[in-house]
Amino acid sequence: MTISPQPIQTLLEMRDISKTFGVTKALSGVSLTVYPGEVHALMGENGAGKSTLMKILSGAYTADPGGAVVINGQPVTLSDPLKAKAHGIAVIYQELSLAPNLTVAQNMFLGNEPSRFGLTDRAEMRRRAEPILRQLGIGFDSGRRVADLSLGERQMGAR
Ligand SMILES: Nc1ncnc2c1ncn2[C@@H]1O[C@H](COP(=O)(O)OP(=O)(O)O)[C@@H](O)[C@H]1O
Ligand SMILES: [Mg+2]
Repeated sequence: MTISPQPIQTLLEMRDISKTFGVTKALSGVSLTVYPGEVHALMGENGAGKSTLMKILSGAYTADPGGAVVINGQPVTLSDPLKAKAHGIAVIYQELSLAPNLTVAQNMFLGNEPSRFGLTDRAEMRRRAEPILRQLGIGFDSGRRVADLSLGERQMGAR
């Protein structure tokens, strides 16, 4: 009897990923394989395409046709960040795009504020923000000013 070792399934495979921006070829046939438990560092000079590859993985950009992303052995379509999130992919950005002088709730609804009689409805904003924070396991209040939060707290809110 021969015992053949079980092949370990990959957690993530990005195969032959290309991305073109106009005349710029940001990525050309890039592949990345990640096995369970691995930690990878993606390194390269400025403009090498690191951010572009991660944006494709997180659904922010769509890759050129021809490549594939495979998660747990299944090919997936990461057409938007919510789809990527459903597959367990989230990006924690080093640089945060938060408005420090506004509250957590105000940042959450920036550009999409609930209004009442043409004015921003702050109470409604907080009412809607609270369950979202609880769902994310965030303990702090949505009325906190972002400038008063720690960097770690701000990153939680940026997920
Ligand atoms: N939205 C974009 N529009 C046009 N060109 C872009 C865009 N994003 C990135 N690029 C170009 O793609 C290449 C890779 O950029 P990027 O992924 O940001 O590299 P890195 O993160 O490794 O510094 C660069 O030449 C950059 O100028
Ligand atoms: Mg970058």
